[in-house]
Amino acid sequence: DILDGTGRILLPGFVDLHTHLREPGREDTETIDTGSAAAALGGYTAVFAMANTDPVADSAVVTDHVWRRGQEVGLVDVHPVGAVTVGLEGRQLAEMGTMAAGVGQVKLFSDDGKCVYDPLMMRRALEYSASLGVLVAQHAEEPRLTVGAVVAHEGPTAARLGLAGWPRAAEESIVARDALLARDAGARVHICHASTAGTVALVEWARTQGISISAEVTPHHLLLDDSRLETYDGINRVNPPLRERSDVEALRRGLADGVIDCVATDHAPHADQDKCCEFSQARPGMLGLETALSIVVETMVRPGLLDWRGVAKVMSERPAQIVGLDDQGRPLEVGEPANVVLVDPDTEWTVRGPDLASIAHNTPYEEMTLPGKVTATVLRGRITARDGAVYPLTGGK
Ligand code: DOR
Ligand code: ZN
Ligand code: ZN
Ligand code: ZN
Repeated sequence: DILDGTGRILLPGFVDLHTHLREPGREDTETIDTGSAAAALGGYTAVFAMANTDPVADSAVVTDHVWRRGQEVGLVDVHPVGAVTVGLEGRQLAEMGTMAAGVGQVKLFSDDGKCVYDPLMMRRALEYSASLGVLVAQHAEEPRLTVGAVVAHEGPTAARLGLAGWPRAAEESIVARDALLARDAGARVHICHASTAGTVALVEWARTQGISISAEVTPHHLLLDDSRLETYDGINRVNPPLRERSDVEALRRGLADGVIDCVATDHAPHADQDKCCEFSQARPGMLGLETALSIVVETMVRPGLLDWRGVAKVMSERPAQIVGLDDQGRPLEVGEPANVVLVDPDTEWTVRGPDLASIAHNTPYEEMTLPGKVTATVLRGRITARDGAVYPLTGGK
């Protein structure tokens, strides 16, 4: 099969360090099959499936299943993210070594949905991870600052609207804490979904101290701001929340300057009844895999903040380096099976939820016209997606 690259941009296959695929546990909202299809259509050749499944991915039984199922489907390498702690209690460290040594070869650990609140537990997790050579991701929330707050949490808009939420201090204090803990543990720490100007500044500061820290930003935090909250529409609910325009600008600049390493989708499917409702009733999270590239083009390429070389860096090379994937995000040897994506840089398309491959098809980008479209994705020399169709090894949901 020959791919015609005329007028297209050729990039290394994208790597997403933050994807929620809901299998096991909530297969009514996404499965490894459907999430893999969304990933391939979005130009991804590797995704990291977050640990907040049911059961939690806190043992090799779960993490190996995720990897094997992804390989059966064959559309994208689904790398399991292991939970740092056992279950949802967060009191006992999980057997990270067993997960790292399993078939799924877990490289990244987090406790998404129940981040490591206890500083002592986080310190132990970082020390353990350093001895194993794996990476710990911090979901960046201090719940004691988040739960029960009454006013002025997320900025003036949220305060005026009376929305309970996730204050910037809840994010920034954890980023600062974990940077310092990583320093003392001699470990590396990865910051999930940076959403404030203060987080960008803290990551930059940590690097000046020689701390091994990396950080990601989501497409939605690059594009949307808290003016969206005015409608009280649950579709805009996400953790961390949409913040102020000044934060959006700081995140874009941070990504352009390399302070923020990469874009990660935080693809978080939820059923319609949990999103198409009033804000306070909605679950946090948005679809992200199929729209990520277009949002990067809209927010970074069009304004001249990144060129296509820069897109390759933030969508593929840096995330691959951060987790130590040796078969992604690097120049190919002659004759080596390629992980690549072809992008039509000029096409504009209109997002329609029902057209998306995810089971959940509610999206904050409904009817939005975005630039840049993935036209083909190739995983180890095999076409996985082309012109909106996917080619799995095994079919069915
Ligand atoms: O909004 C979010 N939803 N942010 C996360 O990081 C988790 C996710 C989820 O699992 O729904
Ligand atoms: Zn999160
Ligand atoms: Zn997440
Ligand atoms: Zn629907």
